[in-house]
Amino acid sequence: MTACIVGWAHSKFGKLDGETSESLITKVASEAIAHAGIEPRDVDVIYVGNMNGGFVKQEFHSSLPLQTHPDLRFKPSTRVENACATGSAAIHMGLNSLAAKKARFVLVVGVEKMTELNSAQAGDVLIKASYVAEEANIEAGFAGIFGKITSAYFQRYGDKSDALARIAVKAHRNGVKNPFAHFQKEFDYAFCRNPSDKNPFVAGPLKRTDCSPVTDGAAAVILADTDAALGMKQAIAFRAAEHVNDFLPMSKRDIIQFDGPTLAWKRALESARLDLLDLSFVETHDCFTSAELIEYEAMGLTPRGQGERAILEGWVERDGKLPINVSGGLKAKGHPVGATGVSMHVMSCLQLSGTAGGMQLQAPKLAGIFNMGGAAVANYVSILEPVK
Ligand code: COA
Repeated sequence: MTACIVGWAHSKFGKLDGETSESLITKVASEAIAHAGIEPRDVDVIYVGNMNGGFVKQEFHSSLPLQTHPDLRFKPSTRVENACATGSAAIHMGLNSLAAKKARFVLVVGVEKMTELNSAQAGDVLIKASYVAEEANIEAGFAGIFGKITSAYFQRYGDKSDALARIAVKAHRNGVKNPFAHFQKEFDYAFCRNPSDKNPFVAGPLKRTDCSPVTDGAAAVILADTDAALGMKQAIAFRAAEHVNDFLPMSKRDIIQFDGPTLAWKRALESARLDLLDLSFVETHDCFTSAELIEYEAMGLTPRGQGERAILEGWVERDGKLPINVSGGLKAKGHPVGATGVSMHVMSCLQLSGTAGGMQLQAPKLAGIFNMGGAAVANYVSILEPVK
């Protein structure tokens, strides 16, 4: 055991009119500190995950958590950014501070306020997480990048639109049970499978229901070193935390292989001394349904090109052999980019502490988390296990 999550908080995700990144940060920071049962003065180091890059005018975020309480004044705080894996990047920075013995308690907040822009404008910001020199002119923003990846996958392995629609249906069915989710609404298979006015093509074979939405939200965790964690009322330990970056240009990689995610999973499972199916559930980065499909292969659930089996044969449903995204995932819960990685850890802590309410799985023992920045560029896997 390296370090633990000992407190957590999560805002509602969605279009949060009236909230700002500041109000979201202070809300989840104060709730996480209270949930951990510590005082603000006990926090040694702060990391703020925020992708930003133009969603809001306030770009400099590191000191906003200090407004939660006067005792946070003068604490070292840093904004962390690693595209859509920003939240996990901030958590991993916190783990490094603990490992270096620079802190006993670390506050990590992930936040994004995206909906001040419309979808097209948000797409212009998000495309900056591509290799701009070669990829920025792809149409439809970041959806265009995954449109291209999905077309390449279909070309090699055949049209998998049925599987993608099933993944969307699963996400929305699970999202209904998640009170924090952006969409708490079921979509049926026919709606997700067939293009329509309400479900148009967005990029390549991807329709609207294949995309995560543009979302506001925040989440926070308190990390503690092992000694401190053992004295806390709840403690969820990291069995593994691995980070793998790959080349940025898609032209330098076989983009449907997801080599970075594959290596991150391999290293995490090896360092935790586990097999994939030892995990009770996985929260994975379904920014697009095709990303989830390829991630089944990257995590080792199916051989290459056979990811569809995991969804079509029910393996990844709530009652399947490896439930995936029981929170609704990015697709239904929403994807406020800087908050997403922290949110995935919070969702896992809820499950592992038996406090997930309507989402609760039966006595889960181990959680796997995969958070991805860019098109399989910044890849983070965490494996969590409850201690108390
Ligand atoms: N899935 C399902 N429904 C969605 C949706 C989504 N992703 N996004 C919007 N909707 C719904 C809205 O709730 C709204 O429903 P209503 O008519 O019942 O009120 C309707 O679709 C229209 O919403 P709007 O916001 O006008 O849609 P849009 O066409 O402008 O945007 C996307 C849809 C898919 C283009 C946008 O959500 C998007 O760009 N997503 C990708 C974001 C992204 O790239 N993130 C980074 C990933 S790495």
